[in-house]
Amino acid sequence: MLILGIDTSCDDTSAAVVKDELKIISNIVSSQSDIHTKYGGIVPELASRRHIEMILPVVDEALKTAGISIADLSAVAVCHGPGLIGSLLVGCSFAKALCFSRNIPLVAVNHLEGHLLSAFLEEPRPEFPFLSLIVSGGHTSLYVAETFGSYRELGRTRDDAAGEAYDKVSKLLGLGYPGGPVIDRLASKGDPRAIDFPRAYLPDSIDFSFSGLKTAVLNFVGAVKIYKHAEKHGEEFIVEPSKQVCDIAASFQAAVIDVLVRKTEWAVEKTGIRSVALSGGVSANSGLRLRMEEMGKQKGVRVFIPSTGLCTDNAAMIAIAGYNHYLKKNFAGNDLNPQAYLPL
Ligand code: KG4
Ligand code: ZN
Repeated sequence: MLILGIDTSCDDTSAAVVKDELKIISNIVSSQSDIHTKYGGIVPELASRRHIEMILPVVDEALKTAGISIADLSAVAVCHGPGLIGSLLVGCSFAKALCFSRNIPLVAVNHLEGHLLSAFLEEPRPEFPFLSLIVSGGHTSLYVAETFGSYRELGRTRDDAAGEAYDKVSKLLGLGYPGGPVIDRLASKGDPRAIDFPRAYLPDSIDFSFSGLKTAVLNFVGAVKIYKHAEKHGEEFIVEPSKQVCDIAASFQAAVIDVLVRKTEWAVEKTGIRSVALSGGVSANSGLRLRMEEMGKQKGVRVFIPSTGLCTDNAAMIAIAGYNHYLKKNFAGNDLNPQAYLPL
């Protein structure tokens, strides 16, 4: 069985082919960050237009890399939400047309289910039930994954998602979009104890909140003079963020990680579940990966984190989720409409 997965939910155009037994045979991602970086965030209209340009070449490349043709496909799994409506429309329209013309089943996949099931893209795979922390640009939520298709939410962010906070802090510091990778890199050169940014632990709740932290960084940056390019390399000055910017990045990142790890620990204590899976773009963060692994060792909990390339948006995770819906004959009709808001 060969499933083509498609994800156009945000700013990456992605197509992947997954073979039965959950084997990824191709996974192509065309990033749009070059378009959006100068705006410090995603411009939805520009994202939709680029998806229209890229969907055909990206699907073509996924089939070519897999060494198959359209006629070999058993089904198409497409992400139909949540996400940017114009972006989602491109993937959904393409998938519907492809399924109609080839007379093969169409499977609709929730983007969050894709992230959650990305734990199954590689070995070792978790066993149900497991705790799933999804930390992305649009979501920060903790679930109990009971079995395929059955997910119970324990908590979610009450305001900004963790990735959104990364992107906004990056914009504030003039570091461009996406913020996560650059802040991650600069944090490794800074002192995480330099600035005591607040941690919203929200006792008695497994919800999250990152807007206060974002405001604290804004206030700090407003109150001090920021030296951005102060380092000298040999005889020449290279445009490189200063030690001060690295300290802000490290202190901000420490506050995000403290909360994510502590909340996950509470969820382990509350549920008694001994497996934790991380997913979503922020799970590519080197500091978070390290701290979550350490927490796992201390608590005797198994921690599953995808390779960094499978943390951020990709279509392999959509194809994996689609595969499970396909087995249950959970097919979508040609009247499938994308939805910007779609709970898991
Ligand atoms: O899962 P994803 O690709 O898209 C959404 O579903 O939102 O996540 C994108 C988010 C962005 O906010 C980006 O800044 C963040 O993931 N991100 C990171 C890292 N790499 C990407 N955040 C922290 N550290 C990283 N290394
Ligand atoms: Zn995502």
